[in-house]
Order: sequence, then C-alpha cells, then structure tokens
Amino acid sequence: MIPVILSGGSGSRLWPLSRKLYPKQFLALTGEQSLFQQTLQRLAFEGMQKPIVVCNLDHRFIVNEQLAKIGSHAQSMLLEPFGRNTAPAVAMAALQLLAEGRDELMLILPADHVINDELNLRKALELARAAAEEGEMVLFGVPADKPETGFGYIKAGRSEEGDGLVPGAYRVTQFVEKPDALRASEFVRSGGYYWNSGMFLFRASRFLDELRNHEPDIYDTCVLTLERSKATVGMLTIDAGTFECCPDNSIDYAVMEKTARACVVPLAAGWSDVGSWSSLWDVHEKDSDGNVLKGDVVTHSSQNSFVHGTSKLVTLIGMSDVVVVETKDAVMVAHKDAVQDVKKMVNLLDAQG
Ligand code: GDD
Ligand code: MG
Repeated sequence: MIPVILSGGSGSRLWPLSRKLYPKQFLALTGEQSLFQQTLQRLAFEGMQKPIVVCNLDHRFIVNEQLAKIGSHAQSMLLEPFGRNTAPAVAMAALQLLAEGRDELMLILPADHVINDELNLRKALELARAAAEEGEMVLFGVPADKPETGFGYIKAGRSEEGDGLVPGAYRVTQFVEKPDALRASEFVRSGGYYWNSGMFLFRASRFLDELRNHEPDIYDTCVLTLERSKATVGMLTIDAGTFECCPDNSIDYAVMEKTARACVVPLAAGWSDVGSWSSLWDVHEKDSDGNVLKGDVVTHSSQNSFVHGTSKLVTLIGMSDVVVVETKDAVMVAHKDAVQDVKKMVNLLDAQG
C-alpha cells in the first residue's frame, strides 16, 4: 500500500494564516508538527511504503525540509506547476505507477487532517485493503452528525445488500459532494449518512478505468502530460503546457459521485478536517468560556470564539461565536457560521489584485 499525499491545496479557508507560499498543511496548527508531518507520522507502520507526495513546484523545498525533520523521505514527488484539483493529481500519480509497471494499492490522503486514534485507523485500513484488493474503490466514512456543507455525503447500503463485499464494508448507494445547507440538514436528519473523510484506497488501474469512463478529458490530458513531463530519480516535474489544458475537478465530483464501484468503510478514529476556522476551534481544547485563544489575547464577556494573534495584543469584548485572526499584514473577523466564506474573501482580494 502506497500513501499518496495530496499536498497541493492553497488552504484559502484558513487565510490569513495560511498563504499561497506557505499553505495550511505546512503549518503547525494543532501541535508541534505540521498537519503534513502528522499525516506521514501516523503512517509509519509495517506494510506501508514510503509516500508519494503530489504538491506544487513552489513547495518542494518545504516538503523536503519537513520530511527530513521527521526523519522521512518520499519515494517520489510529483511537482505541479499549478493545481488542477485532486482528480488530475491522483491521476498523475496512478499513471506514473502504471508506467513503472506497479499496479499497486494507492492510499490517497489529504495533508490537512487530524486523526486521534491510530489503532482504529489501522483497523479500518486493513478492512479497506481487503476490499480494494477485490477491485473496490474504498471511501472512509465518518458518521455525519451536523449539516456541514464543506463535505461529501455518503449513503451506505445495508450489509445484506453488500454485493459480496468484505464484512464491515458497505456499498455506497449515493454520494453527494458538498450539498447546500438544506440538503445537508436533510441528510443528517434522515440518518445513515457518513461524511467523506477525503481518504481513499484503490488499485491504480481501477481508479484510472473509472476516470477514463467518467472523465475522459482528464484521463487523456493526464496521459499526454505524463509523456511530456520531466522525470528524474524520485521526481516528476509535470509539464505545464499540457497540464494547463486539463479540466479542473476534484476526485469527488469527477469519480466518486459517478462510480458504481464505491464502498465505504466506517472510520471511528477521531477524524476531523481542519478545513476551516470553526473546525480548528472544534479540535482544540477550550477555556471555561468555550474560547480558544492563541497568542497575546485578552477577552471579557466573550464566548465560544477562536482568537489567534501573531504580532499584536488582541482583545475581545462582548462577542460570541466569532473568529478573529491577526497577522502582520491582515486582520480577519468573521462569524463562526460564515467561515466557509473566507475562501470567497480570498478570491475577492485576488480579483482586486
Ligand atoms: N496535489 C494537489 N493538487 N493537491 C490538492 C489540490 C491540487 O490541485 N487541490 C487540493 N489538494 C489537496 C489539499 O491540500 C487537501 O490535502 C486535499 O487535496 C483535499 O482538498 P481540499 O481542497 O481540502 O478538499 P475539500 O476539503 O474541499 O473536500 C474534500 O475533503 C473533505 C473532507 O475533508 C472532499 O474529498 C470532500 O468530499 C471531503 O468530505
Ligand atoms: Mg479539505
């Protein structure tokens, strides 16, 4: 099993701490190590190969430095000139493996998650391995208990309808990526839905068959891109001119919503996505007012807020459920319910130059 770490996101929902040149996966947001380093460390067990890292060309030095600091190295790095989202990133890794004659199991991992229970993670991985070896596309599902709109939602079939799946894995009967708030509420109310954790396990050739079926443009462009990319030992520099023509799409929309071969393995491993400021608040220990305070911060009559100061004293008075992040060149204040829109703010700022 080869971990493929997707580390090319820009982390814009954690602006202003996360920046294009130093995105959130490389920040130590939840402990001493960065999220990227934690992702690798929890995979250091028998039967797990050294990772393939797919990241932006500009981040190669950060990746190498962070790997070295934890005494690790990548078996190969795929360097993207720009992101085309996760479907092409996974496709490039799968195509390169097949080009080397290695049709192996790929464990796709986001670089920005928290998982607390490594033992249960390993149990889920073992179960998933058995299913993936039989040609399944395995998703890891976390019971959906609130109507988050930033996740994919998985409806699992009952085991007796399991189409001969290994016990403990369930056929995916519906996959909806990032539903709107109303639909997400309906899913949570009706019960039996999982969030997609964003981790996947499948054989390289199985994924490519599905991609070719459902998104032939991505498949064809990636095949051409690989032919034109520069490979040196342990490194593939992806050809910008060809990759530019690749449609931008995530693995969730491109393949997981469409495939009939998806199955879900429940993951009870203290998983959380630190995809937004409110989820970062979720994973931290709170003070008696429910606040998470980092840096030089003083509060009065304020509850359930996340305040992060990096260069100045920050004070909060009579505020609830807010996020305040102060950095040298930007201050962001948002309601905790509106933090998914931080991305929109970043786009707005980009558009304004
Ligand atoms: N190499 C590479 N290139 N990596 C990328 C790119 C890219 O163009 N775009 C995103 N990534 C990386 C991110 O750094 C992250 O580690 C991972 O791929 C997932 O991308 P996100 O952008 O964070 O996806 P998401 O959070 O909106 O949604 C996904 O994760 C949710 C769980 O956290 C989906 O899989 C959802 O269905 C899922 O619920
Ligand atoms: Mg994410």
